[in-house]
Amino acid sequence: MILTTGSAGFIGSNFVLDWLTQSDEAVINLDKLTYAGNLDNLATLKSNPNHIFVHGDIGDAALTAKLLTQYRPRAVVNFAAESHVDRSIHGPEDFIQTNIVGTFHLLEAVRAYWSGLTNTEKAAFRFLHVSTDEVYGSLDRDEPAFTETRRYEPNSPYSASKAASDHLVRAYHHTYGLPVLTTNCSNNYGPYHFPEKLIPLMIVNALAGKNLPVYGDGQQIRDWLYVKDHCSAIRCVLQNGKPGEVYNIGGWNEKANLDIVHIVCDILDELSPPATHHLPFSTYRSLITFVTDRPGHDRRYAIDARKIERELGWKPAETFETGIRKTAQWYLDNQAWVNNVLSGSYRQWVEKNYTERT
Ligand code: NAD
Ligand code: DAU
Repeated sequence: MILTTGSAGFIGSNFVLDWLTQSDEAVINLDKLTYAGNLDNLATLKSNPNHIFVHGDIGDAALTAKLLTQYRPRAVVNFAAESHVDRSIHGPEDFIQTNIVGTFHLLEAVRAYWSGLTNTEKAAFRFLHVSTDEVYGSLDRDEPAFTETRRYEPNSPYSASKAASDHLVRAYHHTYGLPVLTTNCSNNYGPYHFPEKLIPLMIVNALAGKNLPVYGDGQQIRDWLYVKDHCSAIRCVLQNGKPGEVYNIGGWNEKANLDIVHIVCDILDELSPPATHHLPFSTYRSLITFVTDRPGHDRRYAIDARKIERELGWKPAETFETGIRKTAQWYLDNQAWVNNVLSGSYRQWVEKNYTERT
């Protein structure tokens, strides 16, 4: 079996759902259930004996040690993190605690467990750390995309905390020989994405007739990857990646934020026009509102994903056009999930992040 962390969140839950449709290998899912962790994402696994959910913190080394000894996984995949840049600007401490201190405690527990394995088990074991393209900093418009050898230049408390965790993971390989793999991926989108992030926020706000807040001039560029393609890349790296190596994962889909918002509006106009929600306008584009920019906002990210394609044969299956359509349809079909997520604490976050923006 494998142990994953943070798999009640967006990417981790998609990963576990996909894993269990393709494999009988069981998954132990260790998650703290922060505001971003949601067991509704895993509701279809309720009676699946191959999914073992454990409520806990990656910073609790005793708990992780107990799980490792009890279940003896052949691999650990670390998704657990505080993941939202705006939250890291309002309050960085949780990011330091989970992303840096938590990853350190997890690595320590894994190192102790791995040291006690037989030589064959040791060689087969993997620790896969899920990281982000944001560790590389911001690109100018004409600069080449991030390769795996790009210098680290994190600019937000979030990306700095992820960069620190990447360095720890690297050090555990270099110093102790732990067979680690690190993946640095671009912006994901798809089912179960918490509506504090750009794409799900725009979908949820549009359907409710609320403003669509675009930071600054909306010309910041991100590379977008459908979440299930990220999951297939992680499976591929886990299976075939070389210990100690880093793999960039991306969708070859660079787009400016304003273009993303336009595309989302146009698809919703087609799939669920404003009139069907009794909204007094003909296109969701009329809800677009430019608001104060994010402090320290990175201008452009772009991923050069040639290494994973060349060495491991991975390529994304979805284009942005197919993935965004599936995503919009998923939100329309899963209103109950959306309504559960829009709870009291979510409303407090929206107030905190958006009322001060003019
Ligand atoms: P998310 O915020 O949706 O989910 C994070 C999960 O981690 C939640 O279930 C939460 O409860 C859990 N968690 C938080 N702190 C924990 C702790 N101390 N112990 C155990 N569990 C804890 O995040 P996501 O978007 O699914 O991102 C998953 C990983 O992928 C993160 O490491 C993130 O940095 C990375 N990543 C995300 C993206 C993206 O676009 N979302 C892109 C590249 C990389
Ligand atoms: O690049 C990978 C990263 O992508 C991951 O490591 C992070 O965990 C993930 O949250 C994401 O970070 P971003 O900051 O790029 O994602 P977010 O959805 O928050 O914002 C995307 C862009 O949209 C960014 O330029 C800010 C802008 N934005 C965002 C929000 C929430 C807006 O213009 N308005 C908004 O309301």
